[in-house]
Amino acid sequence: MSAPHLSHRNIILTGFMGVGKSTVGRILAERLNRRFVDMDAVLVERFGKSIPAIFAEEGEEAFRIAEARLCQELAGETNLVVSTGGGALINEQSRQAFEATGTVVCLHAAEATILARVAAATDRPLLPGEEEERRRRVHALLQQRRLAYGAIAYQVDTTNLAPAEVADQIIEAAAGDQEARGLNRISVYSPAGDYDLLLGNGILADAGRLLVNRGLRPGLAALVTNDMIRPHAETMAASLTVAGFTPTICTAPEGEQHKTLASVASLYDQFIAAGLDRQSVVIAVGGGVIGDMAGFAAATYLRGVPFVQVPTSLLAMVDASVGGKTGVDLPQGKNLVGAFKQPVAVLMDMAVLSTLPSDEFRSGLAEVVKHGVIGAPRLFTQLEEEGPVNLLQLVADAVRVKVRVVESDPYERGVRDTLNLGHTFGHALEQVSHYQMRHGDAVAVGMVAAANMAVALGRCDAALAARIRNLLERLGLPVSVAGYSVAAIHAAMAQDKKRSGKKLRFIIPQALGDVVMIDDPGDTVVQQAIASVVTSAAM
Ligand SMILES: NC(=O)c1ccc[n+]([C@@H]2O[C@H](COP(=O)([O-])OP(=O)(O)OC[C@H]3O[C@@H](n4cnc5c(N)ncnc54)[C@H](O)[C@@H]3O)[C@@H](O)[C@H]2O)c1
Ligand SMILES: [Zn+2]
Repeated sequence: MSAPHLSHRNIILTGFMGVGKSTVGRILAERLNRRFVDMDAVLVERFGKSIPAIFAEEGEEAFRIAEARLCQELAGETNLVVSTGGGALINEQSRQAFEATGTVVCLHAAEATILARVAAATDRPLLPGEEEERRRRVHALLQQRRLAYGAIAYQVDTTNLAPAEVADQIIEAAAGDQEARGLNRISVYSPAGDYDLLLGNGILADAGRLLVNRGLRPGLAALVTNDMIRPHAETMAASLTVAGFTPTICTAPEGEQHKTLASVASLYDQFIAAGLDRQSVVIAVGGGVIGDMAGFAAATYLRGVPFVQVPTSLLAMVDASVGGKTGVDLPQGKNLVGAFKQPVAVLMDMAVLSTLPSDEFRSGLAEVVKHGVIGAPRLFTQLEEEGPVNLLQLVADAVRVKVRVVESDPYERGVRDTLNLGHTFGHALEQVSHYQMRHGDAVAVGMVAAANMAVALGRCDAALAARIRNLLERLGLPVSVAGYSVAAIHAAMAQDKKRSGKKLRFIIPQALGDVVMIDDPGDTVVQQAIASVVTSAAM
């Protein structure tokens, strides 16, 4: 990744011991041609003794005072890459001082990774030498610091990343912060042109400027939405007007039953009435239904006009708005007509989630858990420990999993299938319920079935299957169904398979962050997995 042009604001890396602050800090400093300051090393020099010796002879208090003073000093400089001690930014004044003149990034790693990385270290004053005791201490310290770490706008999970990849994400964070304080950017590579996902709190009010920064010329803009979401479209329209655009709000009827060619035709009518030309931009402000439909309209109107996604549901943020798939349903089936249409940008404003009905939020969480299982173990454990609290971090971590997959398979020729964890069962459940069952609910039950299948095939520990089930249940998602027969669900799968002309494919978990595809595992295995989530065989 080439480094974007960064201002002289400092970059400050913080986070728990063992997350790689110093290693990554050095790489970053070299890449950006800046001075690297390892705060602990400076303090060792100032006290003239090692950190354990400072703690033992001067006391932790004296260390913290010197540390806080050093934070203030460094915040007064520019062009630095600073690696702080793990406890330095628990002090809120120190954090604020650093944030005033630089970008603060909190690095994380899974607990097991941290333990492995610090096992050999002898210079950690807060850690005892005995293994079990160390494990307990790391866990307790992490809990204690969770809130303070969580208050930092930029978070990077280093668990599965090489130091250079962590450095890439930090540069992205600094560039985002420079564009708008607290803005998170995730760039997506696509053969049709790269684009940014922009995540933040309240960014719709700044949308016009953010789009102009991405090369959109102010002109006519159609904001496609429905009546439930219209207030968010109006917020965005106001900021577009300030940036020189002429926005028109176009509406489509609400609900999946209206994800049709007729609705798209009505959008074309509204585009023509608003005078949209080939330079105009179509902006989807809504859930996956609006995104899919507006995207298809943008892909086809005048053979294609620029398109922007503003997903407003959790599902649309972590799934539907990324990857370029757009389309509509036919009476014969879902998503049978469509096109690939990459957006110019995807704007994810956590503020819009405050109006999302709770059932829809819960349904979206199923896809978040799915992404955790597929490729974000830390997201999964964080959900286990604290539930869905830090939305920005949750969405960023979850969507990165989708980004990695679509980047490696932009036209859906293979790897993208891993995103279908829980969906083979899920689609069958949606079908037998005549689509009365919510998609996320069906996927939740489907993931439990897939995990049970993995256990039956000897691919995964029963303990992991239990963790997946428990987490879904804790988030209020269903983990079983009643009132459908195993045979009916199996038949729905077979019908699906016949229609797509493909094999009956299951994605099953082997470990957190590791899923595999299994084709046609045999009727008995499939029926057993279905039976494991059907509680009463009525009907
Ligand atoms: N293109 C893709 O890659 C892809 C991937 C997954 C799903 N999808 C599609 O996405 C659709 C499902 O998306 P969805 O779950 O977002 O459904 P949806 O668009 O129907 O939204 C769910 C409900 O929430 C409402 N809503 C959305 N945001 C709101 C907000 N901020 N405040 C108040 N109400 C709000 C909507 O009006 C709707 O009633 C399906 O059609 C599916 O096929 C597409
Ligand atoms: Zn899904």
